[in-house]
Amino acid sequence: MAAPNQDFNSFDRARFFVRYFNPALASLRQAQVQLHIPFVAAKRALRADAVGYFVADAFDASFFAPADAAAPTPAVLALGEALFKEPVLSGKAGRSCASCHVPSRAYTDGLKVNSSLLADAGLERNTPTLLNAALQPDQFYDSRVHYLEDQVHAVVSNKAEMGGQLSEAPALLRKKGTYAKLFAKAFANDKQPLTEHNIRRAVATYVRSLVRLNSRFDQYLRGDTTVVKPQEILGFNLFMGKAQCGTCHYMPLFSGTVPPLYDKTESEVLGVPATADTLHPKLDGDQGKFLLYGVAHQKHAFKTPTVRNAALTAPYMHNGVYQTLEQVMDFYNKGGGAGMGLDVPTQTLAEDQLNLTQTEQQAIIAFIKSLSDAREVAY
Ligand code: HEC
Ligand code: HEC
Repeated sequence: MAAPNQDFNSFDRARFFVRYFNPALASLRQAQVQLHIPFVAAKRALRADAVGYFVADAFDASFFAPADAAAPTPAVLALGEALFKEPVLSGKAGRSCASCHVPSRAYTDGLKVNSSLLADAGLERNTPTLLNAALQPDQFYDSRVHYLEDQVHAVVSNKAEMGGQLSEAPALLRKKGTYAKLFAKAFANDKQPLTEHNIRRAVATYVRSLVRLNSRFDQYLRGDTTVVKPQEILGFNLFMGKAQCGTCHYMPLFSGTVPPLYDKTESEVLGVPATADTLHPKLDGDQGKFLLYGVAHQKHAFKTPTVRNAALTAPYMHNGVYQTLEQVMDFYNKGGGAGMGLDVPTQTLAEDQLNLTQTEQQAIIAFIKSLSDAREVAY
């Protein structure tokens, strides 16, 4: 029989990590250094020489970058940021990346879905945060693109999103005075610095710089026990335990990027409904990953996003169906779509009720709020 406080639900995971797990990893690393055992030389998502999972810079975004990615020099980042805010990339449409990925909203737009440039309709999907988007091997809700460099091309030429032609962008940018200089500075070794290729590299390198892993909860896991409240610690323990959130939102990225190597991202079927009407639920029509390869069990499968900064990124889910984290909690507490009575044969989320009390649901929300780390936002 399990000893008191050591059964699955009451096990204090937070305390375990801070008091035992992290110090143990630190001792192991120290021993490795003292014994002159070399660190794995190959590049890894979690740096081979990191003192654990929670230290600053534990993750190396360049692991997820293509071989020809630009180095994140100040000149490349300044150019990338300027291009991120540059409407010329969308031709005459007047849209920039920042129109939808608004820096002060943790790089989202606060809309259910943004408007499409095509008809008088919305886009198919909710705008996700770009904070820590670099720390995943696949991009978009259906994982259809691997590299941020390719994602730039996909978005700029998407007729509904930006409606531009990346091939026309160099000529348009040359007409704007400052860019020739910015490109020359960023890509000093290139004979012709202002190219389509370098536009993609600069924007992608900027997005790759948006890694933020220094929330209050990170500081707590690094040993500063003064920065979080007991309610937030309870929320973490529930997230990792009774509520089962951590079985899909893996720590410490709290996304579908899978430990221990963090080189794959998982997609899941939750049975997300089309509207927030819980009395007459209807399954959302978006087929998700199924649209890519037609694999039956991927019907309605979506990449597991991070819950970091979720306090700042409402509305939620691929279709923006939920306005609040309380609604998200209610959805999970009911066992997702199938738990609400929808026919979702492929659902990977357990359809059992979680039986979380209101106090427990509020604790999980408080924990999610302790994961906010967007320097651009005052909160
Ligand atoms: C009209 C609104 C809009 C504009 C403009 C826009 N995006 Fe997005 N972005 C979205 C939406 C919606 C998605 C989700 C699409 C999907 O998953 O199918 C997305 C997804 C992404 C993702 C994937 C994130 C993830 O976690 O999967 C990245 C990266 C991204 N956008 C970067 C950019 C960049 C860079 C630009 C400018 C070149 C840009 N976006 C312009 C709306 C927009
Ligand atoms: C079976 C895997 C799985 C489990 C378990 C799970 N999630 Fe999720 N979560 C996902 C997927 C996949 C999505 C994206 C679904 C979509 O967009 O339709 C998601 C989306 C979310 C979002 C919205 C993020 C955004 O930016 O829109 C939040 C918040 C969230 N989950 C919190 C939780 C919490 C809290 C729990 C535990 C009660 C939990 N999740 C359990 C897989 C899971």
